Formats: sequence, C-alpha cells, structure tokens
Amino acid sequence: MALNPGSRPIAIVGCGPGALDYLTSAARQTIDAAEVLVGAPRLLDLFPAATAERVPVSACVSAALDRMAEHVGLRPVVVLVSGDPGVCSLSQPVIRRFGLDCCWIVPGVSSLQVAFARLGLDWLDARLLSTHAYVPEVDAAALGQENKIAILAGNSANMPWVVSLAGALEKTHRIYLCEDLTLPEEKVLCVSAHELGERSVASRTVVMLVAKGMTK
Ligand SMILES: C[S@@+](CC[C@H](N)C(=O)[O-])C[C@H]1O[C@@H](n2cnc3c(N)ncnc32)[C@H](O)[C@@H]1O
Repeated sequence: MALNPGSRPIAIVGCGPGALDYLTSAARQTIDAAEVLVGAPRLLDLFPAATAERVPVSACVSAALDRMAEHVGLRPVVVLVSGDPGVCSLSQPVIRRFGLDCCWIVPGVSSLQVAFARLGLDWLDARLLSTHAYVPEVDAAALGQENKIAILAGNSANMPWVVSLAGALEKTHRIYLCEDLTLPEEKVLCVSAHELGERSVASRTVVMLVAKGMTK
C-alpha cells in the first residue's frame, strides 16, 4: 500500500514519545523520503543522518511555516511532531495554513498511550487534558467523577494548576508522575500532591490521576 496516496506535498509524521524504538516503520520510510524536514530541534536531532534541508521550529511557529511554504509543492516536505499528530501538535496549524488536501498524516505512538500502558489501564473512557499551552477551563469537582485523568503536563509554568487539581482529588485518586517515557531516564512514580509540588518536573511529563482501586 502506498505510504502517501496521491503524494500529498506535506507529510505530518508522529515520531513517538522519544525513543527511536517507538518510531513506526511508516514514519521512518516517510522521513527517509523527505527533502525538507520541519520540526523542533530535538526532533530534528533524532535523525542525524538525514540529508534533507532542516527547518527548525521555535516559539514563532508562523515564521517556520513561512520558511516551509517556500518548499511546499516543489519538494517532499515532512513535518515532525512528537508522539501522535492528533494530540496537541503542530498538525493543526500546518493543516490550517496549507489545507487538508495538501497534508498526509502518519500516526505515531502518543506519550498518553505509553502512560496508560505503563499503568496497565485501558483509556477509551479516560479524560485527556493538556496544560502544555494553557490551563484548561474545567471544574475540579466535575473531574472528581472521572476514573482516569491524563494530563500533558510538561509546561512547568502551569504545574501549580496540576498540583492543585491533584490535591483536590487526592482522597479519591492516586497520582502518578510519568516522566521521559520510553527514554533511558524514564520514571513512573506514585506520589502525593505535596511531592508533586516539590519536584521540578521534566518537560516530558504526563500526570495521571487514577481512581483508587483501579491500579495496584
Ligand atoms: C506538545 S505536547 C505533544 C504531545 C504529543 N503529540 C503526544 O502524542 O505525546 C507535549 C507534551 O507531551 C508530553 N510528552 C511528550 N513526550 C513525552 C514523554 N516521552 N514522556 C512524558 N510525556 C511526554 C508532555 O506532557 C509534553 O508537555
């Protein structure tokens, strides 16, 4: 089966949570065919042997998209995102700018999938939140009804909100700190809200709040 049916000019590729073992073969083949690679420096660094031109994405996403636009339609462009493109990634800004007809998405393994796997939990019924860009507007009391809450919590500026939510649910939920998943320095720890607040958390962090009794 063709990797990119219709050869759309932009492939948005999920690179998984960090370790190359978690990069899919479809992602690898798509990246190998790229002539331009767009992505955060730490994603570009995953592929030192790639000869494609590199367009690093920093805080100013629109500037990177402008640079990318110079190549779209002329050479195969691959946008690298961490985890899965469907979870808080550059995929939506790219699709808004260039149109869905120009884009082909290659799914990846999300950090959320790995976090649930590490705890041995299904996640069809989970509540997924992110403090990556901003604090979500949700009611802590309503969240208390959820059995499984996973929070993309790598932005330290918003960690006080995560700590306060964890504190509010601590009587009914266990708190798991999942850092640097799949990488050699991976940690999955059951902590108190106080301990969570005391730690300096890694930029790759998922916090899981799981109703007591669902995990050992
Ligand atoms: C911009 S979001 C991207 C999420 C990504 N698309 C995914 O599916 O995992 C960045 C957040 O992903 C999480 N993250 C990414 N890689 C991780 C890892 N290896 N371990 C723990 N969390 C990770 C962190 O919560 C970080 O704040």
